[in-house]
Amino acid sequence: MNDLVRVEEVVREGRGITTLRFRHPGGVPGQFVMVWVPGVDEVPMSLSYQGELAGITVKNVGEATAALSALRPGDRIGVRGPYGKGWGIPKGRILCVGGGVGMAPLMPVLDAIDDPSSVDVAIGARDGGEVIFLERARSRSSDVRVSTDDGSLGFHGTVVALAASMMKEKRYDMVLGCGPEIMLRYLLPACKEAGVRCQVSLERLMKCGSGLCGSCVIDGFRVCVEGPVFYDVQVEGMKEFGRCRRTASGGITRA
Ligand SMILES: Cc1cc2nc3c(=O)[nH]c(=O)nc-3n(C[C@H](O)[C@H](O)[C@H](O)COP(=O)(O)OP(=O)(O)OC[C@H]3O[C@@H](n4cnc5c(N)ncnc54)[C@H](O)[C@@H]3O)c2cc1C
Ligand code: FES
Repeated sequence: MNDLVRVEEVVREGRGITTLRFRHPGGVPGQFVMVWVPGVDEVPMSLSYQGELAGITVKNVGEATAALSALRPGDRIGVRGPYGKGWGIPKGRILCVGGGVGMAPLMPVLDAIDDPSSVDVAIGARDGGEVIFLERARSRSSDVRVSTDDGSLGFHGTVVALAASMMKEKRYDMVLGCGPEIMLRYLLPACKEAGVRCQVSLERLMKCGSGLCGSCVIDGFRVCVEGPVFYDVQVEGMKEFGRCRRTASGGITRA
């Protein structure tokens, strides 16, 4: 679905992190939309809310995300999608592990699970000012823990170290992880050591978002169609994961 939508609500979630709410139908947890800022660019954004009032949660890192972060209620953006393959949500106990704005595609998982005791959450950030969705997660899960790199809130250390300690303490059937690639690179072996299956949501440069241009390819997989969510066994076979990424002109650079 391709829509020009009105921004209904703007919420400041943390330092440099903003949620925009708008009316756009459909989607399953883990899917993303292509968001067009008129006159600036079109970029992929995970849906952090689904349902009648959809939402994206944007970290200001460059031109398009700065323009999105500056929008006000009443402004208009283009939204295409939803696209991609979302999370496989199994029966049993789930641990959601989100680093920074990586919490965005995990929040619809929490909204979709009705039993707060069957999903635990580890939220990580560089410092307390970048921790997002803490209260929203607490309203959906009975065990939400926080880690910060500088120790200013919760566990002092990485969210992977926090998740590893939770996996030692409790039994999980699946880990769902999203965050910087370096974080996911360490999350996969931590899950393997604990004997827990894992899915991760990957980011690559995207142009079409719908499988046509090839700019998002990683080891032969189009992240916009075969991903962004991949199973551990798929990622373990990817030579480019954690090592390199494609540039806007199609070259390959170090991750
Ligand atoms: C499937 C998917 C879902 C995403 N969901 C979200 C989300 O929910 N919230 C959010 O804030 N961002 C999300 N992103 C990342 C977001 O699309 C980029 O941050 C954005 O495109 C940057 O555009 P820009 O013009 O602001 O910055 P640019 O000027 O294009 O880049 C600024 C910096 O960010 C880096 N960068 C650009 N794109 C990416 C990327 N895809 N992955 C890693 N680094 C990148 C550049 O190398 C550069 O260092 C997602 C990306 C994908 C592929
Ligand atoms: S962004 Fe074009 S094929 Fe994925």
